[in-house]
Amino acid sequence: MTAILSPIARPDTSNPECSYDGSKVVYRLLRLETWGSPLMNLGYFGYRGLFAPLNLMSSVEGAQNRMVLEAAKLLGMRGEQDLLDVACGRGKSSYLIQCLHPNATVTGVDLLEQHTATAQTLFGGTRNLSYQTGNAMDLNFGDESFDRVLCLEAAFHFPDRAEFLREAYRVLRPGGRLVVVDFAWNTEADRVQKDHPKTMLVRDVWQWDDFYSLPEYEATARETGFRVAASHDWSSRVTAPLQLQFRTVLGLAKTSIGRRLLEWRNPLYRSLSRSDWHACVAAVAAHAHVQSHSKYMAFVFEKPLAG
Ligand SMILES: C[S@@+](CC[C@H](N)C(=O)[O-])C[C@H]1O[C@@H](n2cnc3c(N)ncnc32)[C@H](O)[C@@H]1O
Repeated sequence: MTAILSPIARPDTSNPECSYDGSKVVYRLLRLETWGSPLMNLGYFGYRGLFAPLNLMSSVEGAQNRMVLEAAKLLGMRGEQDLLDVACGRGKSSYLIQCLHPNATVTGVDLLEQHTATAQTLFGGTRNLSYQTGNAMDLNFGDESFDRVLCLEAAFHFPDRAEFLREAYRVLRPGGRLVVVDFAWNTEADRVQKDHPKTMLVRDVWQWDDFYSLPEYEATARETGFRVAASHDWSSRVTAPLQLQFRTVLGLAKTSIGRRLLEWRNPLYRSLSRSDWHACVAAVAAHAHVQSHSKYMAFVFEKPLAG
């Protein structure tokens, strides 16, 4: 494990592309589990607490779709509203929400041209749905252009989250709503974990420099002008069940019978080498470390009607 951690002691976290191009084994594991789904979020699982093991029977791909549906509920869209889906990835979240609200106009924007190009290929023919390449911290839209803004599991990449919040506030109409689904340190004191070797590994995989703490997230949203309408802790639906899923997979992968069982369930696992499996064990343990100091949050921030 030391050998795996040492080369990334000071991760360069400025390249989100490498999180999703298959060069990181954890993302490959997620991509195999989801059979190459265009969605890239961690999934929102149906069971928690004592029932959490039941999630092992459900697919991670289904959980990814459910994540979009849960975020869509928080958006509370009605009729002919305009939605901006910031960091839309390969476009499926924007597509699903457009289908849920056929009279709405949905615009997906992502930093990576290859993501918006894929989005365009997969969903570009859908009525009232379009995609653009652009930066969340410098949105290419006029003031008060949207009724809703969604940022689903992407703000951890942004070097300046406050700038993103200001941009979201600017493009929202008065009375509009921003839903941000993101990670946050439990408390300010947990920030010391940022430079822990296990955290470094996670930062390298997912290309992030730091999280906000929970109080800091809400305070920054208020400073921007938002009202904090709700803060939901989704950790028991997202990070905890996914960790259980991966720990079960890795536990099975330790034995040849277990590996055969895994390959029977999902033949795509054949693409992982022995060293890939070792790297996954270290990476999943590192993610558990970060999870013990952070939460997976869904925030609802509202722009007041009168400024
Ligand atoms: C975990 S993926 C989530 C994608 C999508 N919301 C989903 O649920 O599938 C994070 C996305 O953030 C995008 N991203 C990273 N930095 C960005 C930025 N500054 N502006 C816009 N998008 C960005 C990445 O390209 C990637 O598509």
